Amino acid sequence: MSKRPIIIDTDPGIDDALAIAIALFSEELDVKLITTVAGNVSLDLVTENALKLLKFYEKDVPVAKGCAQPLLAEFVDASDIHGKSGMEGYDFPEPKTELLLQEHAVNAMRRVIMESDEPITIVPIAAMTNIALLFALYPEVKSNIREIVMMGGSVTRGNKGVMSEFNVATDPEAAAMVFNSGVPIVMAGLDVGWKALVMPQDSEEIKKMGKVGDMAYHLFKHYRGGSFNTGLKMYDSCAIAYLLCPELYTVEETYVGVELNGTMTTGCTVVDLKGYLKKKPNAKVCTDIDGEKFREWFKQSISRCI
Ligand code: BDR
Ligand code: CA
Repeated sequence: MSKRPIIIDTDPGIDDALAIAIALFSEELDVKLITTVAGNVSLDLVTENALKLLKFYEKDVPVAKGCAQPLLAEFVDASDIHGKSGMEGYDFPEPKTELLLQEHAVNAMRRVIMESDEPITIVPIAAMTNIALLFALYPEVKSNIREIVMMGGSVTRGNKGVMSEFNVATDPEAAAMVFNSGVPIVMAGLDVGWKALVMPQDSEEIKKMGKVGDMAYHLFKHYRGGSFNTGLKMYDSCAIAYLLCPELYTVEETYVGVELNGTMTTGCTVVDLKGYLKKKPNAKVCTDIDGEKFREWFKQSISRCI
């Protein structure tokens, strides 16, 4: 069976680092391109982090730098969660700068999508600024996209605002453009991210799983996405888990809108499970995950890395 071609749009980011590792070492995925966007920390830092990860993982995947700020919203990072560098806690090797393309992420995505014989899956695990611009500038790409499988949004409450999840809240207008794009969407949001936990005993096991496991352990000690003692949230791995292990999830097809004019709720994903809005479904929403099975899947996936 041929590997499924994907593009990862990311802002590494401690949980991004793990999601990227799992995708790169999976036998079922072919990571064609990694694009970066300002999010957890600045665009320069997340791009450097992506290049450091590739050097550390010994993988030669091209990287293209994307947008430094959201379309309209003011940029606010998440260095309180991921540390000042975005990947605090591990002494990474120098970034592999040769992998950095001269093209902007939006142009690189267009090229990779249009050149692919097989429809590409886009995996945004960060704010969707690049993807929104891609659709605005080059709508022709939509015909060669299989689906978008994102980590973002929430059926219930938020982690950035009362009702808004970080990736959507960082660039709500971009997220709205993506949800309205007509491209098939899978949303793995906080409802599953909050249950996709790595517990302390898992971290201890992971520490012994080669150099990626050791790195993960040290990053986990600095990660504020949950607590080392009561469970760390592997948000971004939820998108990769959907691609590799969809049976972990309960999924409902429904309409998702993004609140853009709220006085307190801007960036909230309005997931219309009961059909109040009388709109056609535009997304498959992961409403639940088997947390125990996720933990096993996650550990097994890390054990397959170097
Ligand atoms: C999302 O926000 C970021 O901090 C994480 O990397 C993840 O993509 C979770 O809300
Ligand atoms: Ca992320």
